[in-house]
Formats: sequence, C-alpha cells, structure tokens
Amino acid sequence: MFLAFLCGCTPRLGRSSDERVIAAMTLEEKVSLLVGTCKDWNLVPEAAPATRHREPVPEGYWDTYQGNTATMRGKVSGAAGVSYAIPRLGIPSIVLADGPVGLRIDSVCTAFPSTALLAATRDTALVYRVGQAIGKEMRYYGVDILLAPGINIMRNPLCGRNYEYMSSDPLVAGQMAAAYVRGVQSVGVGACVKHFAVNNQETFRNGIDVQVDETVLRDLYLKPFEQVVRDAQPWTIMSAYNKINGVYASENTYLLTNILRGEWGFDGFVMTDWWAEEDPIRMQQAGNDMLMPGTQEQIDTLIAAVRDGRLEETVLDRNLRNILRIIRKCPSFINQGKTNPDNTDLHQMLTAHAALAREAAAKGMVLLKNERALPLAPAPRSIALLGKGSYDTYTGGTGSGAVTKAYKVVLSQALTEQGFTLDTIPEQRYLSHIRHSRSVQPQESAWFMPYVSELKWTKTELRRMAKKNDICVITLQRMAGEGGDRQLVEGDYYLTSVERNMVMDAAETFHAEKKPVVLVLNMGSGIELTDIVPYVDAILMAWLPGQEAGHAITDVLTGSVAPAGKLPMPFYERYADVPSAANFPSSDGDPNKVCYREGLAQPARTLFDIGFGLTY
Ligand code: BGC
Repeated sequence: MFLAFLCGCTPRLGRSSDERVIAAMTLEEKVSLLVGTCKDWNLVPEAAPATRHREPVPEGYWDTYQGNTATMRGKVSGAAGVSYAIPRLGIPSIVLADGPVGLRIDSVCTAFPSTALLAATRDTALVYRVGQAIGKEMRYYGVDILLAPGINIMRNPLCGRNYEYMSSDPLVAGQMAAAYVRGVQSVGVGACVKHFAVNNQETFRNGIDVQVDETVLRDLYLKPFEQVVRDAQPWTIMSAYNKINGVYASENTYLLTNILRGEWGFDGFVMTDWWAEEDPIRMQQAGNDMLMPGTQEQIDTLIAAVRDGRLEETVLDRNLRNILRIIRKCPSFINQGKTNPDNTDLHQMLTAHAALAREAAAKGMVLLKNERALPLAPAPRSIALLGKGSYDTYTGGTGSGAVTKAYKVVLSQALTEQGFTLDTIPEQRYLSHIRHSRSVQPQESAWFMPYVSELKWTKTELRRMAKKNDICVITLQRMAGEGGDRQLVEGDYYLTSVERNMVMDAAETFHAEKKPVVLVLNMGSGIELTDIVPYVDAILMAWLPGQEAGHAITDVLTGSVAPAGKLPMPFYERYADVPSAANFPSSDGDPNKVCYREGLAQPARTLFDIGFGLTY
C-alpha cells in the first residue's frame, strides 16, 4: 500500500503485474488495445512527426532501387498495422508487418525465395537461418511481429497463394514452418502463423463456407498448425477470413479456444486477418484477441456491448492478458522505441542476406528431369536463351507477400556473368519486347505485375540458333498472388500454343544438331507439363526464387550447387487427377460453398510426386 503510494499508484507494464495494468485501464483503453489503430497513425500517441532515421542507399549496391527508405518514429512506413499505445501505463504500440518471403515495408529488405521453395529444401537448419535473417531485418527497422509464415495446405495447384505456403503434406509444412518460426523468434521478435484455418484458396475467401469433416480437418488442415504451435510456440496466430462448417474462423470458439489453447497450449495472441468484418463481439468471445487493422465501428460496438451487458468485460480482460504477455517480449517494449538496437550495419546485413537468399534459392530448386543435359559444360559456351522469363525473371508473387527489394538478378544477366555467350537475336528481341510491354502498362507494384506476352519463334529461326549455339535454355513463367486463384486456361495452368510450339520446335531443331534443350520453370506452383516432358532433356523447377533468382538458377544449371530440392506438392498428369478438382474453388454451383469431398485422398496419377527431385 505504502509502496503503491510512493510510486504514484499508476501501474506500468513490466513493473506491475499485468492484472494491475489491466485493472487500471478505462474501458475505452481496453477496447482500443484490442482493436488495431485503423491504420491511423495519429492514434499512436508516441508517434512524432520527426524522422526516426533515414538510411542513405549505399552507393552502387542498390542501383535500381527507387523506393522510400525512411522509417518514422513509433511506426514503420509500409507496415501492415500497429497496436494502440497507452503511454500512461507504459504500453507501447507494436508494429506488425508482412512476410513470408521477406519483410514487407517501404524500406529495402531482402526478397528471399518463396516459402514453397524453402519447403522444397527440406532443410530445417537453412529455413531457420532464413527466418533468423528476416528477424534481424525486423529488429533493424523496428518491426515487432512478422505476419508469417503462411502454412495453409496446398490443396490445389491453382491456389493463388501457394507460393506463400509450404506444402500439400501436413508434416512437411509443420516441420518447415516450425523451423522458420524458431528462426524469426530466435532474435527476439515474433512470428504470426497464418491463416488459421482452411484458407486454401483465394476465390471468395471472405465469404466461403468450407465443409470439412473432423478427421480431415484435424489430420490434414490443422496438423501443420498444431506442429508449429507445439514445437515453436509462435507469439501470434492470424485467423482466416473464411467460415468453417458454418462459423467464421475468427468467431470460432472451438478452433481458437478449445483446440488452439486448450489442446495445443498456445499462449500468444490471435489476431484477425486484415479487415475481417465479422461480428467483433463474437470474435472477442471466441478468443480472437486483436482485430486488425481495426475500425472505429468495431471500437464503438465493443464499448456499447460492454455497457449494455451483451459482452462481459472479463472476456476483454482475458484477451488483454494474452496481448500484454506478448507486448512485454517485443522490441518496442524492451527497447522503448529505439530502432536498430543491435547497431547493425544495414549494408553489411543486406549483403549477407543476399548471399543467404542465393544459397537457399539454389538449394530448393527441384530437378524434375535430366537426360545428360545438366550440369552445363563449363563456359565459354553459347546459349540460345528463350522465354521471356529468362530476361525478366519473376522473383516472387503479388500481394501482401511482395517485398520492397533493392534489385533482382535475372537469368540472362547471371549466365552472362558466368561467361556464357547468349545468342544476341533472341536477347535483343526479348529485351526490347519486355521494355515496350512494361512501358505501356502501370508500373510494377506489390499488387500488379505488368503482363508480357511470349514471343513466337519460327522453325527457320530456331534452326539457325541450333546451328550456332551449344544448347537451348527456355524459361516458362507464371505469376500468381493474393486476391485471386490461378485459372484453368492457356497461359496459366495450361501452356499456350506459342509456348508449346516454342518448346517442341526447339526440341526438334536442337536435337537435329544433337544439342540439348533445358526447361526452367519460374512459377509459384505447377502447370500441366505432361505433353512436353518427353521432348526436353532437362527440367528445373526454379519456383519464385527471390532477388537472387538468376544467380541461383545459374548455380544449379552449372552444377556449382547440386540440385537438392524435393517437391512439396505433386505435379499432376492431368488437372482431373487433382483430388480437389471437382470442388475447387466451389461446390454444387454455390460460389460460397466449398466441400472438401476428397477427404484424405492421395492423387491417383501424378507426373512428379511429392518428394520427387533428382540430383547430379
Ligand atoms: C492477407 C494477410 C496479410 C494481411 C496484412 C491480408 O490481406 O491475407 O496474409 O498478412 O493482409 O497485410
């Protein structure tokens, strides 16, 4: 009593028990902490307009970088959200920013390879190091929680976010995700495992009701979440947008309280996916502790509900306890707003991480076929390099998983660096076609990738290339990302006739000269390849390999790194072989209904099965 009098009676987080801190909060403060700041930075009381620090772009290193490198005090430009601060109780706001393939803020971060590629490495130590590297960038910039990894099961190759997920196999996804989370959290920042649960498609993701039976739900779709919670204790979990058997994931007491906390012992906090607009009262009751990024309407609804008795204040207190327990571990609390607490040299860190991105990318590429075509005989040799993706290699997908990277290395550049000579005719045609196509469309951004069509090559042109060059390398690429699923059409899941002809005609003309044709696949998940496999000599699944794409592909093509990747999901012979084909993205003609009728079925016919991958 006397002590309390001496210290002025107002409890402070960390010095007083969480119970006392909660007891000292007004109802408005409680609700504000349970709801994000609506992206309105003015609601973060400690945010000051002064620039916290501005990093100059180190000379020469980021030649192509055009973005914003400023971070502001109390917030990080480009972060997905922040929590409400209550300075009088010593509660700072914490900063949440996306992953999973690197930290997504407006400043330069490392674009690591897609998590599907990371899972293909099956190398938990390597995945841990990638997680740790992302964690270090978070500390540098002042981010507390990484909104990653995404571990929804790859139920269908058409899911737009497969590049952000890990596997169609629950054990692979669980193991890899646990390594990733342990890596991130090893440096004192938190991970947020998402999207809990059964958000395995983008089509109507906010409205679909997934019908799935208990065994399938637990043994397949919840398994990786269970493993990551038990093995890595993630600080936070993000609930999914969709309904599960009639109840929104974010309002689902069975999922968020009974299973997650009761059975698996989760002791962090749960947040909604962004702008999930369900009933805030039911979300709080179900154990969805924080509503992100938060709206004023949610705040008003919760306050009114407590006042008129529809919502017990003890529910809020329970959820606040979960949140405060995590805030106490966050750099924003421990370092009291100081960024770069480790005095890291940004340039050195990004250089080291670029090397790690290259190492990981090369390690996760999967060699699907090789008839004595790879590794390439050492340079100098000349290559007929075809496919727009060889000159404009994709590094990642679109959406919240996009990263503000400093640069990207495309395949043509990396092969040239290694001393290979590229046939100048395709090189020049592709470069000018890509430049023109990009110049007439909006600029590339996190949510938009300009479309570049594939070029047509006549047999006469190919014959000439086959005489002149030692080998033909063709890259086929596909873009995908958040907000939409891929389509069962030519140019997406199926090859276009231009692509098919390019591959078949190159095979015919180069084989006539006894020279091989190598196919590189630059995409987040599979396409239908069945008809062209017999015609090419080697196929390398290079995924979306991050900013060091070209270097990593070249490392594998030349054999300086032996391919070691194992498929985390199958390539199917025909789309009809995909077990969920008849129920993706909806069932029974109802766009909002998705029945997981395939149960635990394994595909009957695969072209390359899960776990497949050759080496030299
Ligand atoms: C995505 C999440 C992401 C969040 C914040 C949502 O649209 O589904 O995966 O973490 O936005 O950017």
